[in-house]
Amino acid sequence: MDATLLLRQARLTDHDELVDIAIAGNRIEAIAPNLSLTAPTELNLAGKLVSPPFVESHIHLDSALTAGQPRWNQSGTLFEGIEIWRERKASLTQADVKTRALQALKQQASKGVLFVRSHADVSEANLNALKGLLEVKAAVKDWMTLQVVAFPQDGLYGSEQNEALMEKALQLGADVVGGIPHYEMTREDGVKSVHRIFELAQQYDRLIDIHCDEIDDPQSRFLEVVSACAIRSGLEGQVTASHTTAFGSYNDAYALKLIGFLRRSNINFIANPLINITLQGRTDTYPKRRGVTRVKELWQSGLNVSFGNDCIQDPWYSLGTGNLLSVAEMAVHVCQMTGLDEIDACFDMVTRFGARTLGLQAEYGIEVGKPANLIVLDAHSRYEAILERATVTTVISKGRVLAETTPPVLSWYGKPNLSD
Ligand code: FE2
Repeated sequence: MDATLLLRQARLTDHDELVDIAIAGNRIEAIAPNLSLTAPTELNLAGKLVSPPFVESHIHLDSALTAGQPRWNQSGTLFEGIEIWRERKASLTQADVKTRALQALKQQASKGVLFVRSHADVSEANLNALKGLLEVKAAVKDWMTLQVVAFPQDGLYGSEQNEALMEKALQLGADVVGGIPHYEMTREDGVKSVHRIFELAQQYDRLIDIHCDEIDDPQSRFLEVVSACAIRSGLEGQVTASHTTAFGSYNDAYALKLIGFLRRSNINFIANPLINITLQGRTDTYPKRRGVTRVKELWQSGLNVSFGNDCIQDPWYSLGTGNLLSVAEMAVHVCQMTGLDEIDACFDMVTRFGARTLGLQAEYGIEVGKPANLIVLDAHSRYEAILERATVTTVISKGRVLAETTPPVLSWYGKPNLSD
């Protein structure tokens, strides 16, 4: 097949020299220096970084772009956010969800995000959030891969109907079983919810992604339950623990023991640094905890860690643009990942490690024969991409240019002039 799109002089993170990338239809056809091919469209990248797309491994598209509706979160806590969302979601319609989710996804795609895992609140009897997001998933499938998590925001046992609603959500097509054990009414309910989540995942053959210990309480220890269930069920790599912020507050003796079990369980972790640093530590005076899980130690232990935005302008976080380079930049700071290898790892946590969390390894990556999903950054390295929060100049989805952005151009009029 003839090449349809040719990228010249591309810099890949795993190649020492610049390469050309030939795309034929929706697949990568060839990768080599100075390809003797032609294509109707050729882009000379002059050594700019080409990466597989960003992967948003944790976001709530059903609540995205609702900040201030019906009121602002004055305390800034997770729990006031849940209360405000309870008020807002009383008027939630599928059309409402679809409009905002599509807007957020376009915004993310324009910044290089082509794979997204979104939670959908399934605590309301009408399941409008889930139904709306499943419609969005179908609507964007030509340019974006969207996974939908059935997420019982008010607890799987928070009301009598919630367990049945979760099962209905899976029957309707949710890709992933979610949970929130630390927000169940008792510890026993929390443990029971984790066991039920694993049962449902096995029954319906779905992935698992649990909001786990998203609190500063060092006694919140559902991660060990998730880990044990992963080991005993054999699901392991199909399981993700999101947030796990209490892990940042566990004493070191317990944390060390836990990491040993986690390595056996081989589960995935998702941290949401922008949100964690904002929502957690709210009840502390000083010293004030960072409220972020032990990202560096998990990564050093060989466990898979990725980062998400979690929120874009919603009851929990009034800021956020969906840009995963902002997330990676915050992670470098708040997780103290400032070594060069650590900075590169933070970039990987919003790209290929996220793909592993979502179970997308087979279709993700810049390799001959794989789908032609890639982005061009106005940077020459992962370090420079995070340093500058570089513009994603070109987004290619399934072999076609989906979005282009021109980087800002500086005009300097001060003295001395830089050209003098
Ligand atoms: Fe979340």
